[in-house]
Amino acid sequence: MLVAPPQVRLPARDAVDRALAELDRRLGGSKVDTSEAARSAHAVDDSEAIGCVPDVVVHASSRDDVALTLEIAERHGVPVTPRAGGTGRTGGAVPVAGGVVLASQGMNRIVEIDRQNLVAVVQPGLVTANLHEAVEAEGLFYPPDPNSLKTCMLGGNVAENAGGPRAFKYGVTREYVLGLETCLMGGRVLRSGKRTIKGVTGYDVTALLVGSEGTLGVFTEITLRLVPNPTEVATVLALFHDVRAAADAVRRVVAARLVPRCLELMDASTLGAIRAQGVAIDPRAGAMLLVEIDGGGVDDLLERLGAALTEGGTTLDVVAAQDASQRARLWEARRMLSPATRKLAKYKLSEDIVVPRSKLVDLLTEVDRIGERTGVRHLTYGHAGDGNLHVNFLWNDEAERPAVDLAIDGLMRATIALGGTLTGEHGVGVMKAQYLPLEQSAELIGVQQDLKRVFDPSGLLNPGKIFPTGHGAC
Ligand code: LAC
Ligand code: ZN
Repeated sequence: MLVAPPQVRLPARDAVDRALAELDRRLGGSKVDTSEAARSAHAVDDSEAIGCVPDVVVHASSRDDVALTLEIAERHGVPVTPRAGGTGRTGGAVPVAGGVVLASQGMNRIVEIDRQNLVAVVQPGLVTANLHEAVEAEGLFYPPDPNSLKTCMLGGNVAENAGGPRAFKYGVTREYVLGLETCLMGGRVLRSGKRTIKGVTGYDVTALLVGSEGTLGVFTEITLRLVPNPTEVATVLALFHDVRAAADAVRRVVAARLVPRCLELMDASTLGAIRAQGVAIDPRAGAMLLVEIDGGGVDDLLERLGAALTEGGTTLDVVAAQDASQRARLWEARRMLSPATRKLAKYKLSEDIVVPRSKLVDLLTEVDRIGERTGVRHLTYGHAGDGNLHVNFLWNDEAERPAVDLAIDGLMRATIALGGTLTGEHGVGVMKAQYLPLEQSAELIGVQQDLKRVFDPSGLLNPGKIFPTGHGAC
């Protein structure tokens, strides 16, 4: 077992039975699925978190379905775990107290694309890549692009405040969420935010809900800001002998006042994983940067980028993609990294720590030290422009787990010591809850728990997430 479920209150059996009967009667049998297959499929996400198989999966197709489910569940004291694409990396959508999984995959409509005001209104079950395609067909752009964009959904992106490779220039999901319709535990419907770029009326409740990891409410409609689609895009690949030379090139690119939309770094072990997938990479290369620039005047930018990358003489090669299909192939190799890494060992834990960009080399040195100290195999890639790296620990034998725990603990402490943060894009969920006090004071954790009680006094919405609870058996 990788991460034991947190200690949470399980619902009484008769309460669950009464809730099930009422859900069935009021929502209709087709939306209330108690089959073994559905319950097991909704007990996991794309992380290593181990959950408790839920008692029922509710497939919501409207706001009223969501509100009704939350009303029934609260009245009977049954926990609810919201779920969109289920691609999360920290167990946010993994139920740890059984009860209801409230699935929004059926709410997958684009309600509106407003070209005049550069706004899109979507439902939470819309696959992110489908939004990209629809707005790009109108000459518009929705920048956030988590690597799972073909399977992840906007509801999950907003709940986790997802990032992705384009965040260096464009920022993360929060920068694009203007307004939300959210159902609260008990069934109340809350509309927050606006449709305009400016708007400072009252507290920014929308910003609080973004990144709340499904613990405060369940989104039923999302209003997003769009930008014009950049007319030109160029992708460049730079190879280096080692990861330190690559990190130094990142520094030079930033110092040259270039703002690529992506600035992705891959270390030697990561290149090994890509080679193992049949992609040919210069055998001398021990690190790679994938850089993408967009906007107008890309030719001039490309020239400046090439100069910044090669300055210093530690660069092996710089290649620009010649056309859209070459660009797509480069990105395919980057996007498959997470699944390709998974194949390298029986177990994998992927961290998403962030340090100030100037500390990248220190972090990479620390990761090597941790690897030497604990003997745990590791591989690092990620969004170097943001100082946000995915340090992956790999192991094959359960007996190695204590060493892996030491490695994770060491990484978390090193990150904080370098002025960083524990999670840049995957959230705390179940996987990082025990490390929260390393970064945040008891006062800050307490204020967040107070806020949680305002939204969810019964503590039934996505219990066991974010806040440390100790671990217990399911
Ligand atoms: C990535 C995901 C794991 O960047 O965040 O590949
Ligand atoms: Zn990432």
